[in-house]
Amino acid sequence: MTTREIQEQILKLKKEKDVCILAHAYQSHDIWEVADYVGDSYGLSVQAAKAPQKNVIMSGVRFMAETCKTLSPDKKVYLANPEAGCPMAEQMDKEMVLDLKKEYPGYDVCAYINTTADLKTVCDVIVTSSSAVKILKNYNSDKIIFIPDCNLGKWVQEQMPEKDFKMVSGGCPTHMRMTAKHVEKMRALHPDAELLVHPECKYEVVEKADYVGSTTGIMNYAKNSDKKEFIIGTEQSIVQHLQFECPDKNFYLLNSALVCQNMKLTTLVDILNTLKGTGGEEIILPEETIRLGRACIDKMIELGG
Ligand code: 13P
Ligand code: SF4
Repeated sequence: MTTREIQEQILKLKKEKDVCILAHAYQSHDIWEVADYVGDSYGLSVQAAKAPQKNVIMSGVRFMAETCKTLSPDKKVYLANPEAGCPMAEQMDKEMVLDLKKEYPGYDVCAYINTTADLKTVCDVIVTSSSAVKILKNYNSDKIIFIPDCNLGKWVQEQMPEKDFKMVSGGCPTHMRMTAKHVEKMRALHPDAELLVHPECKYEVVEKADYVGSTTGIMNYAKNSDKKEFIIGTEQSIVQHLQFECPDKNFYLLNSALVCQNMKLTTLVDILNTLKGTGGEEIILPEETIRLGRACIDKMIELGG
């Protein structure tokens, strides 16, 4: 079957079976073309709750499908490729969080959305890269344990020195591959380009950027800018999508090793097999996990606007 034929089958089946396909921005272009919604982690969470369809297929990684199920417990939610996890989301378990709470009494736990549904049950509030600053500025405590991404945490902390942050040393293995040396090299090669990076990058990269934001934020910035050249510090798919959407501009990847192998696992065939009932995994979460996780995700949506 050609790509086009697979896409046509997907479009037909998703309509017949009342399925909404949600795709993270790091998914490939052929998946974007069959998705009902493409966006960053915050957009996906909001969309998951809004989608009118009874069934959802998540083309992304496991924590995204779990968030979707938590927000829409009455829907059937499937992860198109059950192997697609996020290494950062697996870095901490509940016991580690409970130990931190004991070590820092009086602090609230703020978890990046890139965490498991189980871990969210012992947290107080969730943030995404696009909403973290706004949410924590509006949050009613000044004492925050921020987990698991210390790079995102540092970027947030720099913007609200009045708050006291405790962090752990977790983070994204893909974004951590970028260093200040890569910035120096690429700035020298492309002196007119603006540097747009994701806050999961190390602070030595973030502090040199012209714009710091989520995947959707980076794409919107580049599309709306009058500039013609951009160095992109996030997963390489964003360079491809931007180059496709803005053919009159030039996009350069900050470091050629910026591939998230987990995000790359899902294919069009996985989506087709999930629709046919021969692939994918239905996400089932205990009621208690949904109830406790939902409270802190709802707080994120309420404070994130
Ligand atoms: P955003 O889409 O929220 O920018 O996050 C990037 C990411 O790493 C998702 O796993
Ligand atoms: Fe996880 Fe990083 Fe991949 Fe995002 S890019 S899914 S944070 S490993």
